[in-house]
Formats: sequence, structure tokens, C-alpha cells
Amino acid sequence: MLSRILALTWKAPKWSFELVSWGKSFKNNPIIGNYVLNFFGLHVLRVVVAHALFRFRLFLLSPIVPSEYRREFIENGYILKKNFLDNKQFLQLVKELDQFEGPVREIIEGTTVTQRIFMDYEERKRAPEFKRLVENQLLNRLMRYCSSKNRPPLFYIENLCNHENVNPRPDPQRDLHADTFHPCVKGWLYIDETSDNNGAYVYAPGSHKLSWKRLKWEYRESLEACKKGNERPSGRYWDGSFRVNDKDLKKMGYEVKKLSVPANTLVIGNVYGFHCRGEALQKSKRMTVWMQARDNPFNPLFTPFPNSAAKAFETVWKVALKRLDKGKINSGEQRNYYGRLARSRCMETVD
Ligand SMILES: [Fe+2]
Repeated sequence: MLSRILALTWKAPKWSFELVSWGKSFKNNPIIGNYVLNFFGLHVLRVVVAHALFRFRLFLLSPIVPSEYRREFIENGYILKKNFLDNKQFLQLVKELDQFEGPVREIIEGTTVTQRIFMDYEERKRAPEFKRLVENQLLNRLMRYCSSKNRPPLFYIENLCNHENVNPRPDPQRDLHADTFHPCVKGWLYIDETSDNNGAYVYAPGSHKLSWKRLKWEYRESLEACKKGNERPSGRYWDGSFRVNDKDLKKMGYEVKKLSVPANTLVIGNVYGFHCRGEALQKSKRMTVWMQARDNPFNPLFTPFPNSAAKAFETVWKVALKRLDKGKINSGEQRNYYGRLARSRCMETVD
């Protein structure tokens, strides 16, 4: 009994803080996952406030990005720019990434093996072309604007190995979903072209916007997400990242679009919009420079010091990743090794 009281005393402030931050788990946080609170609109309130603050910060950051990019992002939920780097620079980057050796984290998602190298400021010292990309002015400004936080993102090299895992488990990335309840962005610079062979990115344009129909859907989903044990429909959603079925998608008026793109295309997407990793028809690989920018959606302000804020986030995230590693390695879903990504095999299978 005493240990239960102590645990609650320790956890209650954490749960309360999560409520006004990016916390999204209905399962692990009993305040976010409380049926009565959500019946009276807690989840919907969080969605509305987070979106209003996002639009406020975007408005303030407007001067840093040309209007055509802003319009595309606000209208569609993503920016797509082909031939992002000049050809010579892109080929030099491809060569560098093919040969780069670093700390690889390899996780299993369904039949896919996902390999990632976290490219923080230390790793970038050994990768001049990658560093040059990170310092690209347009990329820097687009990511700072789209995240609404004025902070450059976390950078990774990501290499998807499709149909690599012969003992598959459900792949949450292949179902259409919103990453979380608030707008936030991910970015990809495609090193390989994408197609049905290696699984193009799929997005429902416009689904990042709040509409009355979307809010009603959020409300219904939040009540479903509060269900416990057997009452909870298995596989219906991924905790805090609601999945949407075709019927609901149509009801809300959205249609999905497959973004099959050539190599050297930049895509920056608001992952509150519905999206997923498209099916890959063949055993294949898909490499990207992957960027992620997630921050407290309820902080109305953004950093006035983009570079130092980015460095601080990278330092904290590096420590957090090491902590997260332990659980995933113990459960068998992740392995870590130092070396190259499975790139040479990629050339053999894709070409
Ligand atoms: Fe996602």
C-alpha cells in the first residue's frame, strides 16, 4: 500500500506535466487515458489548443520562408521539392553515405528491417557532405518554419530493408495513421527513387487541417482509446497515434496520394496528417536522410537561438536513445552494431 502511494506521489506530477506537453499515451498516462475527462472533451481540447498555437508560431515565423513553400505546407500538409541538391553535391552525398561507418540501430517493423544512424554534431564531423546538407540554408529555414519551433531537426541516415525479416510481426508504419495529436514534422531527402518496388511514402493531402468532421473523429477515437483490456479492439490503433480506416477517411473527405519520387527529392510532412509507409512489392532497400522535429506543442514560444537549441536537443536525445536502447535490445526488437548500412546489398536488389 505504502509503495503504491509513493509510486503515485512520484508519478502524478509526471502525468500532469505530460498533459501540457507532447505526452500522448492513453495506456501509460491515466489522466490522458481517463474516460470521463475525455467524455468531457479533454483530448479534443488538447488537439484544438495545440493546433491554434502551431498556427500562431507559423505566422510569426513566416518571414524566414518564401511564400510558395508556406502555401504548399499549409494547403497540402507537406512540401515536395525535386532536385533539391545540385547533381554534383547529391552524388557526393550518396557516395559518402554508401561508405559511412557509424553506430547503427536496427529494428524490426513487420517484414521490414529499419536501420538508422543518429547523425548528431559529433558524427557529422566525420561526414563533410552530410554536414554540408545540414548547413543548407533552404533546408534549415524550411525545417525551422515547418516545425514552428525555429529549431533545426534531429538528423539520421535511415535505410529500410524491405522483406528482410522472415519472421514478420505487425508493422505499425504500414497502416494509415496520424503520429500524434498535435502538428509536428518529419523530413526525408530521398537517396533512392521511391516506387511500388521499395514502398513510396503515402499521405492524405489536407488531412493535417482541423475540420468539424475530423474533430468528431478525434473525439470518438479518444473514447475508444480509453478502453482497457479485452474491451480495447486489438490492432485498431497504435497507442496515441490513431489509425484511420478507409471508411472514416472517406467520411472526412480525404484521399491518399502515393508520393513516388525520384532520388534527390525533399519531402517535409506534417505528420498530424494521415500517412503511412507504402507497401513494397519487392525485396528492396530505401535510403533517406531522415529528419525529425518534435517539441512541446503547448509552449507558445520558439527558440531565438536555433543552433544552440539544436545542439542541446541532440545532446539530450543522444542520452535518451541510449536509455531506450536497453529495453528494445532486451525484447529482441533491436540490435546495435558499429559499421555500414546494408547498402551494397541494396544496389544488388534494386538495380
Ligand atoms: Fe508515422
